Amino acid sequence: MVKKAHVSTTINGEAVEFLCEPRQSLLEVLRDTLELTGSKEGCNNGNCGACTVMLDGVPVNSCLVLAVEAEGAQIGTIEGMADTAHLHPLQQCFLEGAALQCGICTPGFLVAAKALLDRNPRPSEQDIRFELAGNLCRCTGYDKIVRAVQDAAVALQETSR
Ligand code: FES
Ligand code: FES
Repeated sequence: MVKKAHVSTTINGEAVEFLCEPRQSLLEVLRDTLELTGSKEGCNNGNCGACTVMLDGVPVNSCLVLAVEAEGAQIGTIEGMADTAHLHPLQQCFLEGAALQCGICTPGFLVAAKALLDRNPRPSEQDIRFELAGNLCRCTGYDKIVRAVQDAAVALQETSR
C-alpha cells in the first residue's frame, strides 16, 4: 500500500490539512479530497488552463502541481474569489458580458485574469490576450472574455476611487 503524505497548507485563507498519495496532483486533491470542485479538469496535462489556481501568488496549472508541493503554501482557488455577499467584478462582468457558455474554462480564466489585474490594474488588450494565452475556451470565443476583463478593470478602478 502507498504511504500517504500529510500536507498542511492554506487554501483561500483557511488552514487545511489533508492526506494524499505522493503521485496525486493538487487538482485531484482539491476536487476529490477537499471537495473544492470549482477548479476544473479539462486536459489534465497542462494545456488548457481550466485548473488554474494561485500558488504562493503565482497562477499555476494545478494538474501539473503535486499535492505535496502545497505543503506550507498559500493556495487560492476560484472558491475564494467572491465574498459572501457579492461576486467579484470579474465574475459579474463575465456574467453580464456572456463571456461563458459551458463554464469549464471559466474558473481558470477568472483566476488568471484576477492575477493579471492584481499586478496590472490597467492592462492593454494585448496584455490581457498575452496573460490569458494559456487558457483555452472551446465555446465562447475570446473577444467576449477579453472585453469582460477590460470591463472588470474599469469597475475595479471605479470602486478603488
Ligand atoms: S486541466 Fe490543467 S491545464 Fe488543462
Ligand atoms: S465556456 Fe465552454 S470551454 Fe469556455
